[in-house]
Amino acid sequence: MGIQVWSYLEEYKQFRDEILEEVDKVFSSGRLILGDNVRNFEQAMATYCETGYGVGVNSGTDALFLALKALDLKDGDEVITVANTAVPTVSDIVSAGGIPRFVDINEDTYLMNTQQLDKTLSEKTKAILPVHLYGQCVDMDSVMSFADKHGLRVLEDCAQSTGARYKGRKSGSLAHISAFSFYPTKLLGGYGDGGMVMTNDETMSSRLKSLRMYGMQGTYYAEEHGYNSRLDEVQAAILNIKLKHLDEWVERRRQLASQYQSALADILTLPVEATDNYHAYYVYVVRHPDRDRIIETLQKKDIFLNISYPWPISTMRGYSQFGYREDDLPVTESAAKEIFSLPMYPQLTDSQQETVCNEIRKIMS
Ligand SMILES: Cc1ncc(COP(=O)(O)O)c(C=O)c1O
Repeated sequence: MGIQVWSYLEEYKQFRDEILEEVDKVFSSGRLILGDNVRNFEQAMATYCETGYGVGVNSGTDALFLALKALDLKDGDEVITVANTAVPTVSDIVSAGGIPRFVDINEDTYLMNTQQLDKTLSEKTKAILPVHLYGQCVDMDSVMSFADKHGLRVLEDCAQSTGARYKGRKSGSLAHISAFSFYPTKLLGGYGDGGMVMTNDETMSSRLKSLRMYGMQGTYYAEEHGYNSRLDEVQAAILNIKLKHLDEWVERRRQLASQYQSALADILTLPVEATDNYHAYYVYVVRHPDRDRIIETLQKKDIFLNISYPWPISTMRGYSQFGYREDDLPVTESAAKEIFSLPMYPQLTDSQQETVCNEIRKIMS
């Protein structure tokens, strides 16, 4: 098997009986769609994230899309975001009729450079979509004060930040609305797809419940054009089990991060925990100009690394219609050429981590 950058298999061994018991309860309950498991998990997540309401949907991608719909994004509205993110952050803006406008990132944290919001603002700007990338939060005080000043809405992309905190407050509670992913690799991952939109606004949460169910409100009558995007009962049951362990898992990730720091600080550029942040280390992203050689050499030793993300979205053919050129986002583009992720998940053992560090040291010596 070697050492994977991420794996759920040890976790499954540990929780198999509990998971299968809960899955059996779902199948035996007589209620397979939008039942108690989804309701309970929505409440538990809202409590965990210190927000008023959670609405379970089919994926993180759908959570972002439906959140943009709930913000009333209209065709041609501009949304300011970053280009070093998962494609869905940007594809959702486009699917919802919007135009993505990119700002560059900070050199040390790879997070949105909020000093550049001003130069990206236009009369068409409707919203800001900060991405809490790699497990820590964007400087949300700056984002929110800029948004307030210019009458903009803010949607947090929390796909990579469940459990992270900014100034002591949970990610997902820092803006008007937020979107979470429960894709298996995530900090809180299901055993399949899943996502959730969180908000403090009761009207918006009712609208989201309608949007995820064909635009209906408990009848066969559509109040508006809607979609089919519901969190599955089975996934909700599993996520309910896992949520109880999230804090201890984040602590373990932080411990692994600190061990990487002790072992590798002199040979690689390591992650920086931003001021006012409690980093959840969704991934452990390091940087080195020789990264392709490092990845290839480790692969031969059965150690598998990853790159998130090798291409800025602004430079992808699929988004060339928005007119970005090479060098428009210099910090984003140069980071994309050098970053890579080391193995990081709670069940990674200290001895596996030590092997990774020793092999990297051998390459660099
Ligand atoms: C930053 C970010 N946004 C959005 C998504 C989309 O989530 P999902 O894969 O659940 O659709 C992901 C996950 O891939 C992500 O990492």
